[in-house]
Amino acid sequence: MALPPSLPPSSGRPARLVVLVSGSGTNLQALIDRIGAEGEAFGAEIVAVGADRTGIEGLERAERAGLPTFVCRVRDHETREGWDRALAEATAAHEPDLVVSAGFMKIVGKEFLARYGGRFVNTHPALLPSFPGAHGVRDALEYGARVTGCTVHFVDDGVDTGPIIAQGVVEVRDEDHADHEAGGNALHERIKEVERRLLVDVVGRLARHGYRIEGRKVTIQ
Ligand code: GAR
Repeated sequence: MALPPSLPPSSGRPARLVVLVSGSGTNLQALIDRIGAEGEAFGAEIVAVGADRTGIEGLERAERAGLPTFVCRVRDHETREGWDRALAEATAAHEPDLVVSAGFMKIVGKEFLARYGGRFVNTHPALLPSFPGAHGVRDALEYGARVTGCTVHFVDDGVDTGPIIAQGVVEVRDEDHADHEAGGNALHERIKEVERRLLVDVVGRLARHGYRIEGRKVTIQ
């Protein structure tokens, strides 16, 4: 799928962000906190938070921050395409410059990508192209990788295959295996510390400076 090649640098006004979440929303919170601390200097503002389910901490964080929210559940639509169209329309209602998938655990479809290809950023808890999919942390650990981390990338029509913007590395510790077997998520928590900083940094730089996507190469201008 061809991604639009560029977004111009911000023209004085903050870039409009729609953030999509499915869970605890700590990446969303990191964005809210940085924007709260830096104000317009950050270069972007969150105009809405969308989710694919109700009853999640991510939506509560948005509400506490006074942000508009919307929920688009697959089960409320007859077809996956219908859900995808509804998600695209609910997102479009907020006229975003960039859409950020911050722990949004759904693969979007054709309609959403037609509108937001090249403007849709995802964060993934592994060093892509290794360990794509819904279990990136577990899969890296079970494979025996000694380093893993996180990847912020543009979304294309594959699963975690789009052009990479930035990555952060996290060492796997011997004790992570026992922790995982006991049902813990210490490794994911260490990844998320790196991930939150990386995502906020990347979103701010994309918004302030603009970017170009040429093939697989992303240049922040
Ligand atoms: C993050 O680690 C993100 O990379 C991951 O979900 C977590 C969400 O945390 N996403 C995926 O695994 C997508 N394949 P948060 O809700 O606390 O921001």
